[in-house]
Amino acid sequence: VDSKTGQLLALHEQAAKLYHHILVNTEMGQPALDYLHDRGLTDETIETYQLGFAPSQRLLKPFFDQRQSDYQLLRQSGLFIENAQGELRDRFTERVMFPLRNASGHVAAFSGRLLKKADDQPKYLNSPETTLFNKSKLLFNFDLARPAIRQAGEVTLFEGYMDVISATQAGVNNGIASMGTSLTTEQIYAIERTTDKLNVCYDGDEPGQRAIDRALRLLGEHSHLQLSVIQLPEGQDPDEYRKAHGDEAFRQMLVSAKEPPLRFQMRFLRRNRALETDSERLEYVNQVMPLLAQVNEPVELDMYLSQLASEFHIDKAALAAQLKQVQRDTA
Ligand code: UTP
Ligand code: MN
Ligand code: MN
Ligand code: MN
Ligand code: MN
Repeated sequence: VDSKTGQLLALHEQAAKLYHHILVNTEMGQPALDYLHDRGLTDETIETYQLGFAPSQRLLKPFFDQRQSDYQLLRQSGLFIENAQGELRDRFTERVMFPLRNASGHVAAFSGRLLKKADDQPKYLNSPETTLFNKSKLLFNFDLARPAIRQAGEVTLFEGYMDVISATQAGVNNGIASMGTSLTTEQIYAIERTTDKLNVCYDGDEPGQRAIDRALRLLGEHSHLQLSVIQLPEGQDPDEYRKAHGDEAFRQMLVSAKEPPLRFQMRFLRRNRALETDSERLEYVNQVMPLLAQVNEPVELDMYLSQLASEFHIDKAALAAQLKQVQRDTA
């Protein structure tokens, strides 16, 4: 760690402490603290994640000015916005602050969530990319989760920070999240160095389903991870599920809603399709075949073929023959 990096990390550590102090010890932070309690987080969880609050007034700038902090360092931290005159102002205001720690457990960036909906602003605002923060590399909670991932022998990948934190609140400590955008190969390689099993548990809405499909393809292409999908009920995300059903039901859901990727992919291909005509059905079967061609377990494969055969009233032997054809073509 060179001295510049060390100084930037120290700056982030101080900022995290300050935001956290505002949240838990001040009148200004009370609405945000109420908000987090309403969302079902205990003080212990708020402590674990060092959640904080950036108030409406300027906070970091006067704090660091008092300490004669180096202007260039502040500029490079990403914690400030610079105007045309080169003046710095706090980037985050009126947001619940989530420190983003790197794999060594040091705060490298922040994400701030709006307390109240505002149409002209993003719900979550992240630090810009800096020398400390590369959002395609960072995995939220990876530092804290690593021992639990090793112990469980698997990792669960969520879509949002709040899903990971909610899981921790329910006693599930092996959860991580990518940074909102889709999963990257760098993140996949980091995961693969820690475990060989991964569950994808994204939101039960259309963007979440599309993200699962994308993630499965990327994971299949770039890793040897054993994959499962944890399918949430329509429209719900994991955190909402816990809020609605409680910790115990949440933990059970993570086990009982687990399915092989292929089951997800077959359902995903069927969504928004009536499959009423022969040509529609044929098209569907043709899209499923390349997926089936990748299944190595004979029994599992037979299950899928039986299911397809009975569902579409197609001769199973004919399906098997076509599958052989596809396998030969792709070999
Ligand atoms: P979601 O919209 O599903 O948010 O986005 P969430 O995690 O359920 O958040 P809550 O429950 O409303 O607080 C999933 C993830 O996408 C990224 C964040 O990483 C978020 O956790 N995201 C979302 C952004 O970066 N910016 C946004 O404006 C929205
Ligand atoms: Mn504290
Ligand atoms: Mn979502
Ligand atoms: Mn969500
Ligand atoms: Mn949510």
